[in-house]
Amino acid sequence: MTTKLFRNARIFTPLDPGAPLGGATQGRVQVYENGALLVQNGRVEKLGPAAGVLGEIVRAGAKIHQEIDCQGACLVPGFVDPHTHMCFARPREAEFDLRLAGTPYLEILAKGGGILSSVRDVRAASEADLLAATRRRVLTALGLGTTTVEIKSGYGLETASELRMLRVIARVGRELPVDVVPTFLGAHAVPEEFRGDPDGYVALIVNEMIPAVREQGIARFCDVFCEQGVFSIAQTRRILQAARSAGLQLKLHADEVHDLGGAGLAAELKAVSADHLLAASDENIARMAQAGVVASLLPATAYSLRKPYARARRMIQGGVPVALASDCNPGSSYTESMPFVFGLAVMQMDLSPLEALTAVTLNAAYALGVAGRVGSLDPGKQADFLLLDGESPAILAYHAGVSPVTAVYKRGELAAGREDP
Ligand code: NIG
Ligand code: FE
Repeated sequence: MTTKLFRNARIFTPLDPGAPLGGATQGRVQVYENGALLVQNGRVEKLGPAAGVLGEIVRAGAKIHQEIDCQGACLVPGFVDPHTHMCFARPREAEFDLRLAGTPYLEILAKGGGILSSVRDVRAASEADLLAATRRRVLTALGLGTTTVEIKSGYGLETASELRMLRVIARVGRELPVDVVPTFLGAHAVPEEFRGDPDGYVALIVNEMIPAVREQGIARFCDVFCEQGVFSIAQTRRILQAARSAGLQLKLHADEVHDLGGAGLAAELKAVSADHLLAASDENIARMAQAGVVASLLPATAYSLRKPYARARRMIQGGVPVALASDCNPGSSYTESMPFVFGLAVMQMDLSPLEALTAVTLNAAYALGVAGRVGSLDPGKQADFLLLDGESPAILAYHAGVSPVTAVYKRGELAAGREDP
């Protein structure tokens, strides 16, 4: 048994009531100005005001193996990034130049670029190269405070390549000190060989890919890019119903560019989360609230596509629990940085720093169905936490363009950064 005591920390953490924090509770964060955190065998044992925690240690006669003086640093739960496409072969810089010159994102895709050019790259890459590239990004994210990450397939778009991506994703999770949640996104685009026959591709997903993913047990979620010119509402419903029957949980890319009604479909199917939502209607936001669907918002995508940000305040006022994610991908959001996402949410979407903290920790864990283990510092959960060089989580928005994350602890062990604050 190893016991570690982190003292002299300003602890900020949502406490998990057993459901995501929505509406007025979105920013309900527990603060201990002079706090202490006791970690036993990689799990949170106790946290609270230093005097109370120390008193209990003395009373219980517990032996402390290591004591870390946080010197007043801010201590928060590790970030959970609930929406990424980090498994890809290489970035698409030339496409970024095209977008800067005014070509719309969906037009590039319609012409066979965008996602489809990443599909060509992934199909051509060796499994070892894809693994190395994915590992690098996950390590970058870890250094920036991400201790749990979702990663989607979706650049294979044929059964063997999709399964290969999911194998790589699983392997990254086994090899790195990061919890990785795998999502099957065969419905990311219609591949070139099915151009003109999208229903034929949907049939392949339903009849071949989903059964194969189920048999190998290598995905927890199924996601669909429900968007004009990509997958319609009817096609999305068909794929997600098949996925549910195969035991997968549901997410969708909803109303990212056009209001197709994806948010409403997420409510109808009681998906775990609906993601993007830049163009979601008031009516469908209300339906999400009723159905208990988490909104995963991706402000770095709005930034990169130069689109208006999702209406986070409206969602919070409507009682929808809001999570935040990087959407890290080579097209619409090339960043692994949750501090950047946090800053955009505070400065551009008007979340308070404490609302944003809940969004990158507890609500994000609910968006991935892993809140039983991570997302807050409730006793019994994994001791995944960060030290920030600042007095409160607001430093993540305030100290812009740099990372105030000085130490990243995964299951109580230093996984990135430095022990000495
Ligand atoms: O979430 N919208 C679809 N998928 C990604 C972009 C993927 C890409 O461009 O490679 C997104 O924005
Ligand atoms: Fe995405």
